[in-house]
Amino acid sequence: MQKQQPSQSPPRHPSKPGHPDLVADWESLQRVFLQPENDAVKATLVKYMEQILFGLQDFLKEHVGITEAVSLEALSRRFMESRIEIHPRRKLADVIQGIIEDIAPYAVNVASPYFVGHMTSALPFFMVHLQTIAAALNQNLVKLETSKVASIYERQVLAKLHRRIFQRSAAFYAAHIQHPESTLGSFVGDGTLANLTALWVARNRRFQPTEGFEGVEKEGISTAMAAYGVKRAVVLVSGMAHYSLRKAGGVLGIGNRQIIPIDTDVNGGMQIRHLTQAIRDCSGPASQTAIIAVVGVAGTTETGHVDPLDEIARVCAGENIHFHVDAAWGGPTLMSEKYGGLLTGIERADSVTIDGHKQFYMPMGCGMVYFRDPLAMDAVAYHAAYVNRPGSVDLGIKSIEGSRSASSLILGSALDIMGSGGYAVLIDHGIETAREFAREIRQRDLFELTTPPQLNILTYRLCPPALQKRLHSPDPSVRRRTCREINRINIQLQREQREAGRSFVSRTTLPPAPGEEEGRVVLRAVIMNPMTSRKVVRDILDEQAAIYTAMASA
Ligand SMILES: Cc1ncc(COP(=O)(O)O)c(C=O)c1O
Repeated sequence: MQKQQPSQSPPRHPSKPGHPDLVADWESLQRVFLQPENDAVKATLVKYMEQILFGLQDFLKEHVGITEAVSLEALSRRFMESRIEIHPRRKLADVIQGIIEDIAPYAVNVASPYFVGHMTSALPFFMVHLQTIAAALNQNLVKLETSKVASIYERQVLAKLHRRIFQRSAAFYAAHIQHPESTLGSFVGDGTLANLTALWVARNRRFQPTEGFEGVEKEGISTAMAAYGVKRAVVLVSGMAHYSLRKAGGVLGIGNRQIIPIDTDVNGGMQIRHLTQAIRDCSGPASQTAIIAVVGVAGTTETGHVDPLDEIARVCAGENIHFHVDAAWGGPTLMSEKYGGLLTGIERADSVTIDGHKQFYMPMGCGMVYFRDPLAMDAVAYHAAYVNRPGSVDLGIKSIEGSRSASSLILGSALDIMGSGGYAVLIDHGIETAREFAREIRQRDLFELTTPPQLNILTYRLCPPALQKRLHSPDPSVRRRTCREINRINIQLQREQREAGRSFVSRTTLPPAPGEEEGRVVLRAVIMNPMTSRKVVRDILDEQAAIYTAMASA
């Protein structure tokens, strides 16, 4: 990833008092709305825009990513100015030059094929074009008066994904795709807001208006609980669920302690017997508990595993509980003929989260939430006098957000450009390269695969054979010491590899394996970049082995 030598020199465009020739007056500011002020500025713009628009990966390789060469402290010292100047400090051309020289080199080149540590990766180059056009149109999807056809187009994109998830009939989509009363889902800023929206709807439906009670949205959670004769409201989630669900517990007023993790098996899937037991525990009148939803995950953040969605759906249907699937990561697997079946059962969910900025390869940030029932989002409808009036088709009526951009224009266009087949190629590549990665790990004595990939995420650790043997000692204190030693090695290994800047895998901690005495620090690889080849995977492991050898001899 690292192309350049570390530079400790000060930025070429340090904070400084206003430029003496630049003034903020009516005439110069009018120009800001029209065009670049002169040919020199235009030339700088065109130079970089041409590189970005027509040679994105080369541009990123050339300009982005000295990840650790300059310390965070040193970087922080460069950005200590807290005043806003009255007059302009720099011309546009200088600002752009400054971003390229002072910001980009110290940003992270997430597009590198060797950057396999997180769910953020290279973009198809056309995404930048689409983003630019969406920004230029500047539609505000909160209401029809600021978006018109963009709102109608968005409904179509939502219907396409809804159909991929829930597979309802053609007649269903013909009836609902543009029906003003129907809401198949909502675009939101990210997966966190998508999960929050799903649980917001589920909470309001669980505590809907009854005799003498006008609903939780209006009356608040304590009145709702009193009206329903319960003392707490819970959400049962996979033990591997994303922490955004706990945030939702806080925001929705039930308390994040009531987001209750259900034990998972060694593969990370929710254990159904634990789920049914938890439901039983919450169901008796003595428990005075309302279950708002059960959340399964399709592609857990840490290991990429998929919960047994079909079985969870069966349990939830039997108990009449809202079933939400967090498919922020794994949702686009539905594009693949080969692997879409891994998500079987998702079509029985009441709601589903999918992130556009993950495996739909969209720029940050785009989340989506889908509802099986086109009237479900009525539970969160809000009206205002100046927009979103009752009966209007303003998308802001049923949305956690107010003003928002036309992300749907980017996703809809990308679906046209790629087709489901194009996305399937990416998904299949990720899953198959992750499997190859796992095979490679199994062949090397120095490494241990801790969670095999079900989708395209795997975890493993460096575990030298001598230590592996000691992990099976009959003496628990030896096992504990050995676990700690292995954890220490992996922490240092991950840090050194990151700081060397050639490749990046992330690190997390998994629960203890059977017989082990401590949580396991593991390395985590997320394979989504189509340029991450088998050779890249081997290089990453070779580098880790070399770092370990150097560590051990030191
Ligand atoms: C399974 C899952 N759900 C939800 C989220 C939250 O998504 P976002 O970061 O877009 O808010 C993530 C993020 O990694 C995730 O992996």
